[in-house]
Amino acid sequence: MVETLPMDEKYKVHMSKYFEEYNRSLTDMDGFWNEKAKIIDWFKPFDKVLDDSKKPFYKWFINGKTNMSYNCLDRYIKTEKRNKVAFIWVSEKGDEKMVTYYGLYRRVNAFARGLLNLGIKRGDKVTIYMPMILETPIAMLACARIGAVFNVVFSGFGEEALAQRINDSNSKTVITADGGYRKGKIIELKNLVDKAIDLSRGVDNVIVVKNANNKINMEQDRDYYYDDIIEEGYVKPEELDSNDPLFILYTSGTTGKPKGILHGNGGYPVWIANTLKWAFDPKDEDRWWCAADIGWITGHSYIVFAPLLLGLTSIMYEGAIDHPKPDRMWDIIEKYGVNILHTSPTAIRLLMKYGEKYPKGHDLSSLKTLGTVGEPINPAAWHWYYEVIGKNKCPIIDTYWQTETGGFTVSPSLNLGIPDLKPGSATFPLPGIEPAVFDENGNNVKPGEKGYIVIKRPWPGLMLTVNGDDKRYIETYFSKFKNKYFMGDYAIKDNDGYYWLLGRADEVLKVAGHRIGTMEVEDGLVSMKEIAEAAVFGKPDTIKGDTIIAFATLKDGYDKSPELIEDIKKRIKNNLGPIMVPEEIHIVSAVPKTRSGKIMRRVIKAVYLDQLPGDVSTLENEASVDEIRKAVEIIKGGD
Ligand code: WTA
Repeated sequence: MVETLPMDEKYKVHMSKYFEEYNRSLTDMDGFWNEKAKIIDWFKPFDKVLDDSKKPFYKWFINGKTNMSYNCLDRYIKTEKRNKVAFIWVSEKGDEKMVTYYGLYRRVNAFARGLLNLGIKRGDKVTIYMPMILETPIAMLACARIGAVFNVVFSGFGEEALAQRINDSNSKTVITADGGYRKGKIIELKNLVDKAIDLSRGVDNVIVVKNANNKINMEQDRDYYYDDIIEEGYVKPEELDSNDPLFILYTSGTTGKPKGILHGNGGYPVWIANTLKWAFDPKDEDRWWCAADIGWITGHSYIVFAPLLLGLTSIMYEGAIDHPKPDRMWDIIEKYGVNILHTSPTAIRLLMKYGEKYPKGHDLSSLKTLGTVGEPINPAAWHWYYEVIGKNKCPIIDTYWQTETGGFTVSPSLNLGIPDLKPGSATFPLPGIEPAVFDENGNNVKPGEKGYIVIKRPWPGLMLTVNGDDKRYIETYFSKFKNKYFMGDYAIKDNDGYYWLLGRADEVLKVAGHRIGTMEVEDGLVSMKEIAEAAVFGKPDTIKGDTIIAFATLKDGYDKSPELIEDIKKRIKNNLGPIMVPEEIHIVSAVPKTRSGKIMRRVIKAVYLDQLPGDVSTLENEASVDEIRKAVEIIKGGD
């Protein structure tokens, strides 16, 4: 029997509205989206809601012309929102800055002019590698304004990961800062950019925001200070087609290099603005805090764009949520009167570990609603969040979605009608989303049974494609089940119709909410001169979800030693970034593989976790029992 928590009466009443809207979104799709697309302004109205003639390349809001920067800024500056605070920025050190809608508008225009003056134009690709400072959303909005396609790279990635993304996105411009802060230390971003550029095909411009005042090198005729290129004035927003690209954001898959997920100018804003409204029902006077990093999709959609599209006031925090003390998050909530908090299960579990005394030392009564995102939330963390932080009165909005989906797909909906919540379930699909849980053959599994979650029809937030690789888009997302969007996660739909998201069905890891491909770490390892082969998998971790474990073999002539392992970890940190460093690296005599060359990650993991099933033949699809037995011996022989 699953536990259900009856919600406060005031949240409970309207499930009928949810069902009405949900059903309408499926039965009268055109009517529904004609109405919901009005959440943004269009320079030229679209003449058709959906063109699905080239499945699975779906096009939304055909021939509609619009601009993200216009919708986030210009349309508000002639209204009473002109002087409303758009962002309250708080630094780790406790500095704060506020910027109003009008202030942001001016700054975005000034930077857009600076970009144009450097010769950057519509369609050009721009990589943004920045800390969590106000210039980051300014840079994204300035690119959006002139139609340049931005590619934000999380500042926790290292030089090789950055170089690969600069190359793959074909960026000729990089926007960065001298440095950023993390737990009191300065991250030398500009120096990392210099190294990445040396590894890349090269760029024409680097724009540097002065932030940490660390010493950097500036290369003549390539590097410019942000302060020197901005120019006050007005830049007319480009009239972009609904299906022109807005941004590329790289994310990890099971195979190959990271995929550049491409989102557009029409469907994406319509989707994220509607989903933020449906899920959290933010009011004009609310203070919204999405405590993610802008380098990931959560930051793009729900720190930068959707809150501005809805004209909200957001908190933006640069720094770690437990620094300088474990009460940092609660301190910010109290100080700024945060009404809605959206964060990750990893953050909740980390803060839970520090104990109740930290939240209890703060007045959290401004909170009305709590959100979670990015990974499955375990019931213990859910209860702590609900009881200790929300004082049993804030509904928990568990939002399930992905980089590729643009915005929330399955989530309770405070605006349309919230169901009784079940801790650990993201509840029901949002309007427009028609999920199903399939078995291996594409048949619906029975309620209560585990299967693959798919979405059976397109919705406006679905990515346009994988940048430069239409084939990969089809293969990854629409091949396992033809023309159904394959999310890559296991799920259960229970007897009440609630969805339970159970995590990845593939070898993608979630480390502290960050999506990491096992293959990326393996590639990073085998690119080192000492390492011949490597296998990487995730070890369940009570706080971070997964931690990275690696097994590797050395090339002839190298001997294992603790120093070598430390050195390898250090190099992974530089090349790929601190988030990709394996917690443990085990050197073994062979990395077990099937005859067809597939690394037996599951066998290695089972041996490592001491969870070998009696029937080993179920462990790896392509491997024979003999091969698995041999693999077990090798790994047990261990280091
Ligand atoms: C996982 C993050 C359970 C899932 C927004 C998905 C979740 C992957 C939830 C996408 C949730 C995200 N419950 N699992 N509420 N939200 N996931 O692209 O495995 O970084 O496929 O987007 O995170 O990760 P991504």
